Formats: sequence, structure tokens, C-alpha cells
Amino acid sequence: MSSASPFAPRTRALSQLLERFLQSQTESTYARRQHEPGILDFVLGNPQEPPLPGIAAAIQRWSVPQDSHWFAYKLSEPEAQAAVAAALRERRGIPFAAEDILMTTGAFAGLANALLALAGEGDEVVFISPPWFFYEAMIVAAGATPVRVRMQPDTFDLDLEALAAALSPRTRAVIVNSPHNPTGKIYPPATLERLAALLSEASQRHGRPIYLLSDESYSRIVYDGRPYPSPVASYPRTLVVYTFGKTLLIPGQRLGYIALPPTMPERAEVRLAILLRQVVGGYGFPNAVMQYAVADLEALTIDVAHLQRKRDRMVAALREMGYAVHTPEGTFYLLPRSPWADDLAFTELLATHDIFVLPGAQAEMPGHFRISLTASDEMIDRALPGFAAALAHARTHAPAAADG
Ligand SMILES: Cc1ncc(COP(=O)(O)O)c(C=O)c1O
Repeated sequence: MSSASPFAPRTRALSQLLERFLQSQTESTYARRQHEPGILDFVLGNPQEPPLPGIAAAIQRWSVPQDSHWFAYKLSEPEAQAAVAAALRERRGIPFAAEDILMTTGAFAGLANALLALAGEGDEVVFISPPWFFYEAMIVAAGATPVRVRMQPDTFDLDLEALAAALSPRTRAVIVNSPHNPTGKIYPPATLERLAALLSEASQRHGRPIYLLSDESYSRIVYDGRPYPSPVASYPRTLVVYTFGKTLLIPGQRLGYIALPPTMPERAEVRLAILLRQVVGGYGFPNAVMQYAVADLEALTIDVAHLQRKRDRMVAALREMGYAVHTPEGTFYLLPRSPWADDLAFTELLATHDIFVLPGAQAEMPGHFRISLTASDEMIDRALPGFAAALAHARTHAPAAADG
């Protein structure tokens, strides 16, 4: 007897979209072995070394109540908004107002609430492939239709022609992510200016504004002394989405924001729509202590020079072994080509050497695998022989047939 699913079609659509992700978390070799002592975990951007001491100091300092409202219900705390606006004024050279900063529980919540506020039934939201795992599911969760546009394969830059072709009278928003996970690409100013022109022109043609969600989660993880060009400099209807989870490597201490530039025409309405989503979505504001700590945390960053040394060392070592791998401009990921077209099979082979990486197929980059550079130097030392041995094996053997 077939029983009807008790869940709404949208819930079922979400489970289908996230099926591979869920399997990787529950049924994979990684899921089984990730807590074994001695394994080398390069899968996610999780910290593998002790946190910056300033983080605990800030949390301890601000966890001591200074008045009876210390732990009361909080919206976006004015001190946190002011600290973020000041930092953005300095970093982006744009006079952001404190009231236009919405404090969120990371970029996850910033993206989800912005999409829920801006898009709904009948709307389309364009995103770039390869995307971060959850964009498509978040668009579906907002009731809108996801429209996928592939990046340029050789340069990893935006494919502006394909993007222009994807804009329709129903387009409500476009999501871009620079520095880009997983390629490490930073979109150059010329690309961003052409993107802004495209979006302004399409908004005008369709008589309906298109918003740009700029996922800037890695904007402070850039290498070789590069500047970080943000789309907000060229397009006024940009929502800057940020998380402290990457810059400080504290993804479990949920903290981030959405910032609206003073040039956004209807920003009071956008602000209110997001605020309402935060409330009815489950009071999605960062906890009081994290908000008080923002000014202290803004001043901290993980050691990007050290990350860069790890990048350079691993890129050189992997190339020397014979892997094809490009040098990322930002983020903390490397994206080598898999010597077998079946990247899942190759990641299983690496797992026999206790090395765990993200299969490219899980990030819409089949034929590749992703390595997180949040690994310690000691993990890299121990992993390099395994990477070499796996490549040597892959060159002389075909992938074993999958069991069952
Ligand atoms: C591109 C991108 N956007 C958003 C997020 C979410 O960040 P957080 O969990 O800190 O909110 C991540 C985390 O991996 C990411 O890589």
C-alpha cells in the first residue's frame, strides 16, 4: 500500500534538493569515520586549530551584565549596527548608516531572510553555478523559482551573456558570491560594473527592480594583497551579506549581517521586510553577548598570511606530484582536478589514506575535489604522502566498481 507523504510539496522538493548533502552527512564514509582519531579532515571550513584568543576574551568581557536588560530580547543592537557601519564605511568607502545594518545569525540567515523578504511565488532568483550548497534550496524555501547560470569555465568569472539571457520579467534577485566558494575567484571591477549595467537595464525594461544579493562571506580572506571589489560599489540595489564565521573561524558562534547601502532607493521597505522575516522566522537575531562583542570582534581576523602560506605550499606540492590545480585568489579552498573523472571514487580512494575532502560532484564541480585550507600545518604534513600515493594509484588503476 502506498502511503501519501504527510509533508507539503515544498518540503519534499527541499529534501530532494538536499538529498546528496544529507547523505554525505549521514551515510558516507566521511560520516562514519569523521570522528576517528588521526583522520585528516579537509572537508568543510571548520577550525582545526585553537581559536584566536581575542574571541574568548571578547565573549567573556561582554557576558558580564552591565544592567538588568543585558539579556533581554534583542533586535539588531545599536552598538553592533554602529560598529559594522563604521567598519564598512572604512572598508567599502560608502557611507553606510547604522540603521541599515541588520544583524543576523551568520550569512546563512542573512541569505535566507533576504530571500524570504524579497522573493515569493511567481518570482525567479538567479544564482551562479557552482553555487554554495544551500542557495537553490533557500530560493525554493522562499517559494520562488531558482534559475541556474553557469560561470565561465576557464576563468571562473561571471558569464554575463548567459546571465543577461537568464533575466526575465519575473526575476526578483540575483545571488553572487565573491570571493567565490569553491573556485576562490574574485570578480574584477570591470565584471561588476557590467553586471550593474545589466541589472539596471533589465530592471528598467521590466519595470521592476532586481536586487543583488552579494554573498561576501570571504571578503576578508583574500590573498597576495589584493583589494576586494564589492558589487555594492556599482549597484545601489545590492544587499551585502556577511558572516563573522569565516574571518574569525567561529562558524558555531552564529554572527553576521545584511547591509543596505544609502543609495538603495527603497531601503526602508527592504529593511522592514527583512526585520519581519527575522521575527516570524523564529526571532533570528544573534544572541545579545555576540552583538555586544561586535566592535571587539570586528578588529580581529585569522592569520591570512598563514593561510596564504598553506595555499602556496599545498598548490606547489600538489602540482609537483602531478595534480592540476589553480591558485585561488581568496577563500580558504583549493579545487584540484580529480585524476579520475569520478571524483566520488577518488575521494573514497583518498579516504583509504585517512584523507577526507569534498567531492566536486557535491558542489556542482564534477571531476574536481575541494580541500579546505583551515587544516593545520601538521595535518598538511601528514596528508601530502597520501595525496601522492592516491594519485600514483589512480594513474595506473581504474576506479573499483561500486559495491552492490
Ligand atoms: C559562500 C558561502 N556563503 C554562506 C556561508 C554561510 O556562512 P555561515 O555559516 O557563517 O553563516 C558559507 C559557509 O560555508 C559559504 O561558503
